[in-house]
Amino acid sequence: MVYVWLMMEMDAVDYLATVFFDIPDAPFDLHHDLARHLWDESRHSQFGYRQLPKLGVDLMTVEHSLDLYNILVQMPPHERYAMMTMEFEAGSFPTKATVMDRIRELNDFEADTLLAFDRNDEQNHVRYGHRWLPEIMTLCGEKRPVEEFVKATQARFVEFAALYGNKTPHALSPERRLTGNKIRTLVGLS
Ligand SMILES: [Fe+2]
Ligand SMILES: [Fe+2]
Repeated sequence: MVYVWLMMEMDAVDYLATVFFDIPDAPFDLHHDLARHLWDESRHSQFGYRQLPKLGVDLMTVEHSLDLYNILVQMPPHERYAMMTMEFEAGSFPTKATVMDRIRELNDFEADTLLAFDRNDEQNHVRYGHRWLPEIMTLCGEKRPVEEFVKATQARFVEFAALYGNKTPHALSPERRLTGNKIRTLVGLS
């Protein structure tokens, strides 16, 4: 399930790429850090799709959720970037810590290492957020203080999720797609 979770980070590549594309006038240093951020997310996804076949998962049965992408692309680039860095990434560390503690009990060096890379990268992404969100806000004509803007954006996201969430259908039938129960069967739990 951890590797499915990592593989799903492909959606971060999808929506971060749109921020990149939507601010063509950004300074080179900003684009440079966004490019690094994109590369990190594609590596996190790769951690998943590289490991899953080793555990007997057919990648053609793993669906990619387009839900978050579909909500975020309705928002302007500075709001998208704020949600990504100040909400999803900044808020991911407590859950990651719990998962990493449990994974450590499995004595799986590779899993520990991949998750440590992921956490390290995510800490950098939050740092990028603090560095670049004010610049992206300026590029988009946003004049409110950062904190006020982030709070307002979090509230707007809830509205947008209600409007645009749950609109992307499954790509595979229930028989075909990988489910939680099928993972349990694969690892011999049911
Ligand atoms: Fe990531
Ligand atoms: Fe990230």
